[in-house]
Amino acid sequence: MQYGYFDDDAREYVITRPDTPFPWINYLGCEDFFSLFSNTAGGYCFYRDARMLRLIRYRYNNVPVNAGGRYFYLRDKTAYGDVWTPSWLPMKSVLDRYECRHGMGYSVISSACNGLAFSQLSFVPLGDTCEIHKVTLTNETNAVKNVDMFSFVEFCLWNANDDMTNFQRNLSIGEVEIDGSCIYHITEYRERRNHYAVWAVNSPIDGFDTDRQVFLGLYDGFEAPVTVFNGKSNNSVAAGWSPIGSHHIKAQLAPGESKTYVFILGYCENPEDQKWIRFNQNDLLTTEPPTKYEDGWLKAINKKPAEDLLQKYNTPEAVDGALAALKDYWKNLLSRFTLDPLSLPRHGDKNMARMAGVWNQYQCMVTFNMSRSASYFESGIGRGMGFRDSNQDLLGFVHLVPERARARILDIAATQFPDGSAYHQYQPLTKRGNHDAGTGFNDDPLWLICGVAAYIKETGDYGILDEKVPFNNDEKLSDTLFIHLKRSFDYTVTHKGPHGLPLIGRADWNDCLNLNCFSKTPGESFQTTANYESGIAESVLIAAIFAFVGYDYAEICRRTNRIEETEYAEKEIAAMIGAIDQHGWDGKWFLRAYDAYGKKIGSRECNDGKIFIESNGFAVMAGIGLEDGRALKALDSVKDHLDTKYGIVLLQPAYSEYHPELGEISSYPPGYKENAGIFCHNNPWITIAETRLGRGTRAFETYAKICPAYREDDSDLRKMEPYVYSQMIAGKDAPCYGEAKNSWLTGTAAWAFVSISQYILGVRPVFDGLLIDPCIPSDMKGFTVTRHFRRADYHITVDNSAGVEKGVKSITADGKKLEGTVLPVYGDGKIHKIVVVMG
Ligand code: GLC
Ligand code: GLC
Repeated sequence: MQYGYFDDDAREYVITRPDTPFPWINYLGCEDFFSLFSNTAGGYCFYRDARMLRLIRYRYNNVPVNAGGRYFYLRDKTAYGDVWTPSWLPMKSVLDRYECRHGMGYSVISSACNGLAFSQLSFVPLGDTCEIHKVTLTNETNAVKNVDMFSFVEFCLWNANDDMTNFQRNLSIGEVEIDGSCIYHITEYRERRNHYAVWAVNSPIDGFDTDRQVFLGLYDGFEAPVTVFNGKSNNSVAAGWSPIGSHHIKAQLAPGESKTYVFILGYCENPEDQKWIRFNQNDLLTTEPPTKYEDGWLKAINKKPAEDLLQKYNTPEAVDGALAALKDYWKNLLSRFTLDPLSLPRHGDKNMARMAGVWNQYQCMVTFNMSRSASYFESGIGRGMGFRDSNQDLLGFVHLVPERARARILDIAATQFPDGSAYHQYQPLTKRGNHDAGTGFNDDPLWLICGVAAYIKETGDYGILDEKVPFNNDEKLSDTLFIHLKRSFDYTVTHKGPHGLPLIGRADWNDCLNLNCFSKTPGESFQTTANYESGIAESVLIAAIFAFVGYDYAEICRRTNRIEETEYAEKEIAAMIGAIDQHGWDGKWFLRAYDAYGKKIGSRECNDGKIFIESNGFAVMAGIGLEDGRALKALDSVKDHLDTKYGIVLLQPAYSEYHPELGEISSYPPGYKENAGIFCHNNPWITIAETRLGRGTRAFETYAKICPAYREDDSDLRKMEPYVYSQMIAGKDAPCYGEAKNSWLTGTAAWAFVSISQYILGVRPVFDGLLIDPCIPSDMKGFTVTRHFRRADYHITVDNSAGVEKGVKSITADGKKLEGTVLPVYGDGKIHKIVVVMG
């Protein structure tokens, strides 16, 4: 069944019933302030760091699911005092109409009940640190309506981890200040914080509440707040316990009349020496620090930043202006790569256009911003920015805002150690490496080369290589970014095992292949425990990644006249490929690894885990075995052993029992996550590998299987949002085969976008320009793509009336025949018409 539809013209997904198989969310904000916003107004927001600076409370693992959000309660005196929540939750109200539109950085919930229409437009405006909620009430009856509206947010005491654990302290520290229609959440402002939250509305109010227990009742939930049923706020002032913000507004609406209110939930900071204002009886204000108080002076928080913010969005017109600016921003971003749906007459290809042209890129922005920190599956307190994750996220983002990708690269590189290894994660606020997650994931360093190469191919900016970047955030240990890349490369060269393959360390891309862990203690982290530093366990995947990114490294060296380094790199790549040839091939596919005893993993000799997806994908991506038929064999084996209706599973047969020598991978029940789940992230590696073989039909098939839009009408089984990728789909060994989980924050977004845009449609940035190399199903007659690339726009029409899967017969650029398949760098700010004929 479908729970909504794509409105392609509006670039919105329209959810038509609130009881989706899981909360279907959107992300608001694309700079420093971010919100998770579900189709029933659930979720939370934070400034830069979901753990340290969270504004409102959200209860993970709650019953029922999705508890906490920005809620409005309506009470209609003219409808027998009926009370409802127009966003359906938290009351699960019976609504006459309901719709939620998730758009690019905004969402609109509209509903109706008792003849009263409601709409809530929510977004984070560009350049400001707040959520705006524009709420409109419309009387759709012929009689006057008297309505009570109550707003509701529950504040988080900033540190989301403490907020859910350290009750002995935080039930005593909550503080608020109320000023007119503004509710300030000022917990800890008295001491070391210089920031507060404001929850305000642009109209007079008829009351407020800031104490949760008073508003809801101690034994009542969000679904039954006593205050709303009573129809009257209590003007409670929170002192400790759980501060909330609730406004009471009495609205009288004539027949047909609408009233609009602007609610703002903002994050405000003051300079340390301007935290307070003091005033005396004559209302004399000064912003001198409180140490100079004399008797008779009162002090209050400095509200200036909040007042400025509220002033800015004081009217519906101002809000509409900010929304228009946001829409323009996205229109502009998404114009950098477009896929014309009208150029895709095949049935079903509209899904490709809406995903590649809109939603996949949108998700890439979200993964770039969030890494794996905050989603409905990532609590925002556990994981910061991943070294490997963020480098891969760049791949799908760099064409959108290259300058931000550049800054990110420098941040990531600064968490690298002088020997080339890296902190596995870093915290977004401090940009410091995370000690808990530590280091020792031996694939990490290579992803930096991958990210930087993608950035240079996109922009031609070799200058980034000369940027001075600290190691381990220590300025004294700075060197050029190029040296960082070299250390990455050398780290692999200098950390090899008995077969000349890279040592795996704690894990490689597959976080759960923990070959030195040997954990027998429940709860011990599989990732950070190494009970046995074997110095033996090796990864064929890292070897293949090394070959793949190594070519780019060598090419970067060559193009920057580092001739000796180029030769050295080429020699090392050759040696690595030699090791794969000799010790990484199992007869019909590539091996996955050697364990700490030197035993094969991912071999026909194994009982379980005979064949894995990752090494096969990456080895063929790196071109290994293309000439001698092994690549073809490997991908055929992947198809024979790992392919399913919903995507390619990670391995087969699934591990049926726990193996201490393998680690977390064997801890999952068969069919889930890394233990033979369809781990979507690496499906595009097979797609890309297939294009290297020129099998366009198969490449497209692997693309479409995990692409969520193609399963829109299967939402009861799939469960997750049909407009974004999920990390995982349960594999064929799982009871819930086909059910997706962990939507939004996954490397799948970037790789899926790379696979469709660069390898299937084949418009691929390379060092010299834009390579045209499509590999499509033979019955796809052609397509039209526009691509903004290095300051020019390429309007590319591909004609496949020949019905081939791969091969370019001719290219004309602005009417002139072009030699070769690389479009030149025009850099002239103009539109160039490119006509490609396949054959
Ligand atoms: C998760 C992690 C990623 C890892 C993958 C496979 O997506 O974020 O770093 O590569 O799982 O284990
Ligand atoms: C990755 C894996 C997950 C594992 C986690 C540990 O995200 O996908 O299965 O639990 O890493 O950090």
